[in-house]
Amino acid sequence: MNEQPLEPLKRHPEGRALRAEVDLGRIARNLVRIRSAAEGREVWAVVKANAYGHGSVPVGRALEAAGAHGLAISSLEEGLELRQGGIQCPILVLGGLRPEALPTASAEGLTVAVVGPEHLADYARILRAHPLRLHLKLDTGMGRFGLLPSELGGCLDDLRRLAPWIEGAMGHFATADDPDTGFALRQRRIFDVCLAQLAAAGIQPAQRHHGNSDACLRGLLDQDTHLRPGLALFGLTNVPEGRAMELEPALALVAEVARVKAVPAGTTVGYGRTFVAPQPMQIATLACGYADGYRRDLGNRGVVGFAGRTFPVVGRVSMDYLTVALPLDTPIAPGDPMTLFSSDPAAPHGLERLAQTLGTIPYELSCALHRRITRRYFS
Ligand SMILES: Cc1ncc(COP(=O)(O)O)c(C=O)c1O
Repeated sequence: MNEQPLEPLKRHPEGRALRAEVDLGRIARNLVRIRSAAEGREVWAVVKANAYGHGSVPVGRALEAAGAHGLAISSLEEGLELRQGGIQCPILVLGGLRPEALPTASAEGLTVAVVGPEHLADYARILRAHPLRLHLKLDTGMGRFGLLPSELGGCLDDLRRLAPWIEGAMGHFATADDPDTGFALRQRRIFDVCLAQLAAAGIQPAQRHHGNSDACLRGLLDQDTHLRPGLALFGLTNVPEGRAMELEPALALVAEVARVKAVPAGTTVGYGRTFVAPQPMQIATLACGYADGYRRDLGNRGVVGFAGRTFPVVGRVSMDYLTVALPLDTPIAPGDPMTLFSSDPAAPHGLERLAQTLGTIPYELSCALHRRITRRYFS
């Protein structure tokens, strides 16, 4: 996969020259790929955390236009941001809501996950005046939100009262990326038992969804009507099946060279003097630091892309700046764009490979991209 050609950064003369390039066409194509791998099931597209750092409103609009059934986020605020951005499709608040937030959610047409047994009677009372759709979250093995199978029996009377508003039932895999599918299949069996218990009480949610990206890519979907992918929509994946499907990473992080200087051997660079130039070289300073979401522990470990090659990040990454070493004979000038996160998954500065370098997951790197970074959208 080739990187998009880089245009000069457009910016205010006094502004910071750092931007995330987000290819909405890639996100739409990833949606189509995921759906076709899952026999056309409908998709609740997970766009929480500012669409994993990509920008929730533009990404939400693109996914809505590309045929997502709805968008899923974690909080009321994230749902309101999408509605204010003109999104009209269903929006599911995965993290649940306190009863006092239900009137607002109802007025905004949000769908709400029921995440525990606590407020069921309050919900039934409030929904009569402020109706909305509910998805019942079942804790099949994730161990955080959701009604435990052992709690379900004691809640059935309350749930029957909520039945007119219950549209869906959902669970969440703890190990969908594990080559050993034992625990995931156990979660599926528990989900089935809970659904049967609900059906026996006269509650038959029209929608059922248990599958995140990895479950979609690995076919752990069983009788689900809907999918709930996040990461794979952005072209990122934890599993070989995702790479085999040629998911297209949608984001590149680009910074303009702010300063470049030739330094003699022995020059030290940055806080703590952790880099000492071994020979005469050029040091390029980029206006991107850990406050933007570029991890501090990429100092003396990360690389950036420039003119078809990669060059090392040297010295400590500071709050607003990082420094890159280049040989003296590499033509480079202030204003030249360098790629900090590549949209080529094979590149050493692709998000999946950087995550491996850091011993983390690509989610953490993309979600950390600060809102102060300009995002530029194209397709
Ligand atoms: C409840 C729930 N469903 C679905 C997802 C999407 O997961 P993924 O990004 O792995 O596809 C998440 C993500 O954290 C989630 O919390």
